[in-house]
Parts: sequence; structure tokens; C-alpha cells
Amino acid sequence: MNRRASNIFRRVARPSRGARPTDVAESMERAERLDPVVEAVQSVARRVLPAGPLRDLLNGVPFGHPAHAPMTDLPIGCWLSAGVLDLLPGNRRAAGTLVAAGLAGAVPTALAGLADWSSLHREQQRTGLVHAFGTSTATVLYAASLVARLRGRDAVGRALGFAGLTAVLGGAYLGGHLAYRQAAGVSHADPVQHLVPLGWHDLCSLDDLPPGAPVSRRLGYISLFVLRIHDDIHVLTDRCSHLGGPLHQGRIVYDRDDELCVVCPWHGSTFRVDDGAVVHGPATGRQPAFETRVLDNGVVQVRPLP
Ligand code: FES
Repeated sequence: MNRRASNIFRRVARPSRGARPTDVAESMERAERLDPVVEAVQSVARRVLPAGPLRDLLNGVPFGHPAHAPMTDLPIGCWLSAGVLDLLPGNRRAAGTLVAAGLAGAVPTALAGLADWSSLHREQQRTGLVHAFGTSTATVLYAASLVARLRGRDAVGRALGFAGLTAVLGGAYLGGHLAYRQAAGVSHADPVQHLVPLGWHDLCSLDDLPPGAPVSRRLGYISLFVLRIHDDIHVLTDRCSHLGGPLHQGRIVYDRDDELCVVCPWHGSTFRVDDGAVVHGPATGRQPAFETRVLDNGVVQVRPLP
């Protein structure tokens, strides 16, 4: 390799630190100085959005996916479209309408984000806090832009709109970092279909399972939550789909339909032990479940439910 090629290779392989947006985002994850603000906002979030049906809805439990990310399409889509119209002549009313529609969508979107954020790990919360600062700044700028437009000060309204667009796109970048690099909002349950071959597998002896108390048992690469109630054996993957909490350390409860459930010890997600369905968030993804049977020799076998 000649010297010139070697220099190019070194530049590509070792980019200078701090030069990339991801480096900035990663420095936010480690920014402990944000923690006092995180704790203050967290205590407000817990009071404003206690566990219950509204919080489940904002988390996205009825939809089986987090609600916040798709909801951001409304304000970002409206404001981006308003920005395009602002670049063209004769679209004053249409651009103003889009700015107002984006503001209307921003409030429920922020509440959904707050509900998700309040049940994240601290490193994720630091990034989420800066993300929320960017999108809140954008909302304030767009509100000011709308006021300016309504007062006939179109040039000021457009300038404030473009400033808001810059802030919201910065916030959206950090939202992407939170989802794709820090894995907030994705399922953390083990990908059973890739780790467990089809068919029945020996798990353990029935005598090894204490009645009424959940335990953890290994099946190849994955840990399973195993609960024996009389002659019934319920098996789920042990890593909670929300952020990977150990379900075998959770509480066993009955939900309002008298279905047996496990409550995750980390953030309180509640799963039906029969099939892993989510009863309460913040988890939105079903917990992978297993069918069970006991052989004549007392060996418990499991196979993944489709
Ligand atoms: S890890 Fe958060 S609820 Fe289970």
C-alpha cells in the first residue's frame, strides 16, 4: 500500500472524535450534569401520568407498538410542508394552516413521549431530555410563528418557522439515536424464532419447579420464566420485552378479568402468563410464550407458541 493510500485509509478508519453527530449524542448519554433535571421531570411525569388506561394508551399498548414515534409524523410532516410552502409565493394561508395543525399534533405527541421517557434507563433519559428540549423549542417557535402570521407579519412568521424547523429536525435526530442506538421502544425479548429450533424441547423435571413461585430455567441460549400452578406450567421468555427486566423476579397477580399475570420488577409492565399478551405497559410488545407438556417420566417439555 503506498503512503497516500495508507493516509486515506487511516482517515476513514479513525475519524476524529467529536466530528460526527453520533459522538455528540453519545456525550449526552454520559452527561451526568443533566440528572437533576431528569429527576425533576421524572417526578412531574409520574404525577401527571400515573399508571392506568391513559398511560397505557399513550405508551401504545392497544396498538402493540409505541405510539410516540408515529405520532411525530403529524407535527413534523405539517411543519416541513409549511416550510416548503413558505419558499413559494402565494401560499400564506395554507402555510399558516399547516403550522397550526402541527401545533395541535405536538401536544399529544409530547405526552406520549413523556409517558415512554419516564420508564427508560438513565442514559436513555438524558438523550430523551435533550430531544424533548429540541422539540419543545420548536413548538414555542412555531407558536410564535403562528402569532406573527395572524398579525400579518409574514416575513417574521416565516423566519420563526424556519428556526422551528431547524430545532425540530435536531430533536428528531436525537429521537432516532434513542430508538436505533439506545434501543428505546424496540422489543428486548429474546428472538425465540432464531434461537430455538421448532418442536418440543426438554426443559427440566416437574419436581424441580416450586408450586406458585416463578423461577428461571435455561433453554439453550435463552432464559425462560417458568411458573407452576398446580398441574399447569406457564412459560415465557424471561427478558421483558420493554427493556429486558428479569420476569422471574416479578410479582404474580390476577388482572381484572381474573387472568394470571406477571408484573415486571423494573417498570411494572404486566403480561398474561398464558400467552404473553401485554395487559399494562410501558411494554407494548407481546412476551414470547411457550406451549408445555409433562411426559410420563416427569420431564417438562416446551415448544414456542407461534
Ligand atoms: S424492563 Fe421495563 S417493564 Fe420490564
